[in-house]
Amino acid sequence: RPRVLSGIQPTAGSFHLGNYLGAVRQWVALQESHDAFYMVVDLHAITVPQDPKELSANTRLAVAQLLAAGLDPDRCTLFVQSHVPEHAQLAWVMNCLTGFGEASRMTQFKDKSARQGADRASVGLFTYPILQVADILLYQADEVPVGEDQRQHIELTRDLAERFNGRFGETFTIPKPYILKETGKIYDLQEPSIKMSKSASTPKGLINLLDEPKVSAKKVKSAVTDTDTVIRYDAENKPGVSNLLGIYSTLTGTSVAELERQYEGKLYGALKTDLAEVVVDFVTPFRDRTQQYLDDPETLDSILAKGAEKARAVAAETLSRTYERVGFLPAK
Ligand code: TYM
Repeated sequence: RPRVLSGIQPTAGSFHLGNYLGAVRQWVALQESHDAFYMVVDLHAITVPQDPKELSANTRLAVAQLLAAGLDPDRCTLFVQSHVPEHAQLAWVMNCLTGFGEASRMTQFKDKSARQGADRASVGLFTYPILQVADILLYQADEVPVGEDQRQHIELTRDLAERFNGRFGETFTIPKPYILKETGKIYDLQEPSIKMSKSASTPKGLINLLDEPKVSAKKVKSAVTDTDTVIRYDAENKPGVSNLLGIYSTLTGTSVAELERQYEGKLYGALKTDLAEVVVDFVTPFRDRTQQYLDDPETLDSILAKGAEKARAVAAETLSRTYERVGFLPAK
């Protein structure tokens, strides 16, 4: 079985619809066909200041949401990044292989540090992508299911893996991004030119999966479309409508072409009312299941303990091979 690995930050509290459609939904599907490793990346979270109590609560909440979304601990390895110390250990080696200029070109760092003010941004934020490289290479992942915004980090991973292999001998699998065209980038409902995200979205443009379903329904109903009236997929000229059609299609399994036929001659209002219902039908059980997992912390902890153990077995092997290749004297 080919291997996949991916991660999600716990910072946000509730996942948003972009996280789910862009990434988590694929994670659930891939656990059937792949040897799958999925983690909550708390080390990445502290690249920006975190309140300690909130961080641990949000880490649990993230795990609960992943289970609610359909991850099955019998079919995948689900763990918390900080439970596997090899991530930070391999990251150091990767840091020493990365050029300063190369790291400076990472667009997510540029965006995030600009938002914080360059002087306040941490060195951790700067090396964030390199920790992500270590995450992926530790597991010898073949594919990395993520949204479009992570593509550059996967490119960096490929570059560093090739560089290491070239310099020290074949050690790492070169991973490929797994990004679906239809859902790789879900857009803000109010500003369909920017991606849906916690940090940049307008509150009305962001669907949080754990919000009251009626709040989400209202946001869908007031989504921005355009002055035209035709319900047709055209990402360039009709980004708002196309975003809604993409979300609708993915949540219901109906093709966009079929939706276009169904809504021929109908008004945007009809599409939005129906999509609001589709979203409510999705988030309502999702919220309930998340709460059930949160109410049972023992089960959650035991899932994470097993996950960390499985993850460490793989990670430790890669790390020790890497250390040997680099020339670190083995501890006897
Ligand atoms: P994070 O926590 O920001 O996002 C989790 C996943 O959600 C995807 N995503 C989106 N997809 C489509 N449309 C959107 N509007 C949208 N917003 C977010 C992201 O692309 C991501 O796949 N750096 C990563 C976490 C990470 C990781 C890793 C991923 C750490 N180590 C190793 C893969 C492999 C991040 O911050 O994701």
